[in-house]
Formats: sequence, C-alpha cells, structure tokens
Amino acid sequence: MAFLADTLQRIKPSATIAVTDKARALKLAGRDVIGLGAGEPDFDTPDNIKEAAIRAIREGRASKYTNVDGLAELKAAVVGKFKRENGLDYKPSQISVGTGGKQVLYNAFVATLNPGDEVIIPAPFWVSYPDMVMLAGGEPVPVVATAESGFKLKPEQLERAITPRTKWLLLNSPSNPTGAAYTRAELKALTDVVLRHPHVWVMTDDMYEHLVYDDFVFTTPAQVEPQLYDRTLTVNGVSKAYCMTGWRIGYAGGPAELIKAMQTIQSQSTSNPSSISQWASVEALNGPQDFIPVNNKVFKERRDLAVSMLNQARGIECPRPEGAFYVYPSCAGTIGKTAPTGKKLANDEDFVTELLEAEGVAVVQGTPFGVGPAFRISYATATSALEEACTRIQRFCGNLQ
Ligand SMILES: Cc1ncc(COP(=O)(O)O)c(C=O)c1O
Repeated sequence: MAFLADTLQRIKPSATIAVTDKARALKLAGRDVIGLGAGEPDFDTPDNIKEAAIRAIREGRASKYTNVDGLAELKAAVVGKFKRENGLDYKPSQISVGTGGKQVLYNAFVATLNPGDEVIIPAPFWVSYPDMVMLAGGEPVPVVATAESGFKLKPEQLERAITPRTKWLLLNSPSNPTGAAYTRAELKALTDVVLRHPHVWVMTDDMYEHLVYDDFVFTTPAQVEPQLYDRTLTVNGVSKAYCMTGWRIGYAGGPAELIKAMQTIQSQSTSNPSSISQWASVEALNGPQDFIPVNNKVFKERRDLAVSMLNQARGIECPRPEGAFYVYPSCAGTIGKTAPTGKKLANDEDFVTELLEAEGVAVVQGTPFGVGPAFRISYATATSALEEACTRIQRFCGNLQ
C-alpha cells in the first residue's frame, strides 16, 4: 500500500514468529507441543529485585518521569558494574539506559548511520540486527562464520569486509543464536584489525556475558584493546542474567558525544524507560549476584544434555557452545529425506515445520539467522521438557526416509 513508508519494503517481520504462531495454534487444538523457541530464561526474577521495585512504588519514587537515559542511581550502578566486571572506567555522562538492550542498539544505529553506511555483522546473527540497521538507513554486511570456525569471525574475513563506508563492526559474544563466545585472544585478533582502520567503530552486544560455562572467561573489546575505548559502544542489560526480559532495561557505555546523541533520539521517541524497572535494575546490579552461578549450573547441564542427545540424532551435528542458552545444530544430513507427511525436506524451514507437525517440537529454522541448513534450540526450558523434546527429535530424524 503506497501509504506506508518505503522503508517497510526492506524490513521483514521476525521470521521466528511463524513457527511460534504455528506452535500456538497446534497447542490450542489440543496437541502436546514443546516450545524450544523462546529467547528468555525460564527462571523467575529474584525476589530481592522484585521487592526493590515494589518499595520504589510504595515510597513514591516511581511516579514521575526520570532522566531520559536513566536515573542517576542506575547510571551509578552501571558505572560500578563496568568497573567491577569489565575493568572499564566510564563516567555517568558515558552511560545510556534504554527500554531493553534492543532500544539501546537501535538508538546507536539511528544516531550514527547515514544512507549507505555499512555495518559488518558476523553470521549467524541475532535476527533483529540487519533489520535494525536497515530501519536506521544503513546497509547490513553479513559475513558468514561457519561451524568449522566455531561460528566466529576470522581476522582475515573482517579485513576483507571493511570498506571506506564501514561504520561499525557489530559483535555479539556469547552469541544468539549459536552460543559461541570469543576468547580474549580471538577478540584481540579482531580488535587488531579494527585498530588499523580508524574510521571503524565497534558495537559489542554483551547481553549474554554472565551465561558462560566450563570456566570460560568473558572479555569485551574495550577491555581487550584499550586503544579502542574511544570508538567502542559496550551494550549490555539485565534481561538475560537477571531473568528480567519483561522489565525492559538495557544499557551501554561509550564516548560521551555518542551517548548524548542517543539521548536526543530517545528524548524524542520514548523518553525514559519505566521508572519501576530502573529501580529494580539498581538492585539487580548492586545486590547479591550469587543466584547467577546457581542458574548457570542448570543451564550448563541442559546444554550438555541437548548437545549429547542431538548428536545422537541421525543427520544432525551439534557443536558444543561456550555460552548463552542456545545450541545451533546443522540439519544438513536430513535435507533431501522424506518426512512422515510425504514431504521431501528441501531446507531448514521444511525441517522445523515437519518436526512440529510430526512430533510437536517447536524450534526455529536457521536461515533467518544467516546460516543454514540449521536450527536454533533454546534450552532455557524445564530440563524434563528439553529431554523429551530431544528424544522426539531423535525419533523424527530416525523416521526420515
Ligand atoms: C543478542 C541479543 N541482543 C539483545 C537482545 C535484546 O535484549 P533486551 O531484552 O534487553 O532488549 C537479545 C534478546 O533476545 C539478544 O538475543
């Protein structure tokens, strides 16, 4: 319809929604469906965080607008977090708080991209990245990092992808959808390339920082290469580690001039994120952190269960990721085979559709994440349900003709 903006012709609705809708319809029709699509912890927000929010409401601290990009108390808590956990020194004027990490990333793109500006996005990527870049008028430049390279971008690939129009390298470690995380040495190899190209900035999405297993040590680009501090935006949030996806608080640290531009954009769109959620986030960042390793122990057990069971499914190969709560198995070995409905599997979309149809297991096809044939499983779900789902996937693959 001509009334709608041209931009919309470039943007697609989230490809993950089709499977979710189908799963919901099957559930409504009385089918026993296990959903492994959700990108959020199944654990509840810790009580001390909930209580902090309730106290803020009762004490009248939540009734009014706050500073556009965050309460002073929350900015101070974020400054403390960056110092304590990442060894990064930021002043409050270098901190931006928004409605989820998603808004913070979006603000940063809107604040910096001119038409034709390029953003290098290692694939597989979080589905929202390319569309956010396009909404902001930029050009996403996906660069495929294969399973053989651990789903990690290699320095020579980065070097080749950089052009005079490159504005950002967007990194996400641990990654949605693969769970892959860069070691310090791997990150250093990439930051060395960026150092040689002074017009390129680094946007790092560290949302899954705390969800790493097997003694993996998380690091972030500005920490690994202090010379890039002045051209790095370090994005993080409370959604995943603190089980607060619904509260909608994300934040970033970066150069004051960029932070100010992001604030201007937020001031003319959504103003401040919810005051209640901000007070809850102050408690999340300043309060006890001991539930994080407790949750991680459960996530690690689930990761190991999923990797082991999926590798026993015929035609499936599942790498063991370092972090997040996703695995990203290849289903290349099932392509060309025939499902119980008689449908021949031509791609990963067919694989997930037929799996849902035959066994009631909802997973997300890999193609929208930029690398297929593969699928993403979120193991942020009850262990018993995960085990049952993996058994069904094994049966589905075993029954393919
Ligand atoms: C890689 C990545 N970045 C950012 C986000 C957005 O987080 P938030 O809920 O804080 O907006 C997500 C959520 O799924 C994610 O997977």
